[in-house]
Amino acid sequence: MNTKEIIDTTEKYYLPVFGRSLAIDHGKGCTLYDTDGHAYLDFLAGIATNALGYAHPAIVKAVSEQAAKVMHCSNLFYTEIQAKAARALCEVAQMDRVFFANSGAEANEGLIKLARKYGSSRKPSKFKIVTALDSFHGRTMETLTATGQSHYHEGLEPLPEGFVYVPFGDLKAMEDAMDDDVCGVLIEPIQGEGGVHVPPEGYLKGVRDLCRQHDALLLYDEVQTGVCRSGKWFAWMLDGVKPDAMSTAKAIGGGFPMGAFLVQERLAHVFKPGDHGSTFGGNAISCASCYATITTLREMKMDAEAARKGAYFMEGLKKLQAKYPAKVREVRGRGLLLGMELYKPGAELVTKALGKGLIINCTAGNVLRFVPPLIITEQEIDQLLKGLDALLVEF
Ligand SMILES: Cc1ncc(COP(=O)(O)O)c(C=O)c1O
Repeated sequence: MNTKEIIDTTEKYYLPVFGRSLAIDHGKGCTLYDTDGHAYLDFLAGIATNALGYAHPAIVKAVSEQAAKVMHCSNLFYTEIQAKAARALCEVAQMDRVFFANSGAEANEGLIKLARKYGSSRKPSKFKIVTALDSFHGRTMETLTATGQSHYHEGLEPLPEGFVYVPFGDLKAMEDAMDDDVCGVLIEPIQGEGGVHVPPEGYLKGVRDLCRQHDALLLYDEVQTGVCRSGKWFAWMLDGVKPDAMSTAKAIGGGFPMGAFLVQERLAHVFKPGDHGSTFGGNAISCASCYATITTLREMKMDAEAARKGAYFMEGLKKLQAKYPAKVREVRGRGLLLGMELYKPGAELVTKALGKGLIINCTAGNVLRFVPPLIITEQEIDQLLKGLDALLVEF
């Protein structure tokens, strides 16, 4: 198919729920190539997913070798690769047990179920889950209800019961929302989709203390922040406030669909055999990709590398903010999860960047979100900063 045929056929047969632009042929390193051969330096990475970029040899090898052995055999059997992936993920996450799912939403569903089971073992009315406004937790009915953005709820009512929303970063509001009927607090340690919001210092510790006080589980959604993106293996490690359980997805599969939730040992038996499951979760091929991703990132000491490159990138973005104070309101984030808040909507900049061979993203209307592959180089960051500088002149 040529480019037009690909686009026309997709538009004819696929549900029109996405706003798409390019037709992609392949990727290499941090660059994507469209079907007409144009190159694009990618600061989106499949939405914070392709930590090792495109066609990384370690992933290609692991996936092809596993595909030739067994891709899927169900969770009625053990596989060596699932055992290795489970151990590696528990080690880097500093948690004790894992359950593999297929996506971020599914991983968060697992956390919600965990909290509900935990709560119901205490008393029947302990089912409330507190989440933050401007959060994003997924697209299933439970996770979109957990998502504190009303536009994701519209037309889908009646929504599942038991969710309460509080402004992110506001400890007093959290305190007011907490009572002994709360079974869990689900939050992103840094909000991604909501506009790259880092909570004030001490917030997560305050939330943890409130959870302890009310015997509620502290649940982190690390779907976007996890796997070295924040400059630590998981963003909770930035200030050391460990959750009772957490989810991860996106980068953990190295580009393969995978999600997971992890728990501390004391929660290992909240689910009894048969209480939770998945046909494809933890299949051999996604575990092979996951294991290769974790092993490679560990070898590269990618947590520290992402912190170092993120600081360099942040410095460049701050210089642009100083140069364009009437256009750029704030730059923020941690590691290689960075946001530039503009004074007006940024969609136009995203389109113009494509014209310059740069893939960037805009979230929450006016926040440019930069989540490149973690293997991005300083030269590539310079290239983006230069392109952004030129775009901001005209913006
Ligand atoms: C923080 C967070 N949680 C959950 C999700 C949902 O993940 P998925 O699209 O894999 O279901 C996302 C996706 O953007 C996310 O950013």
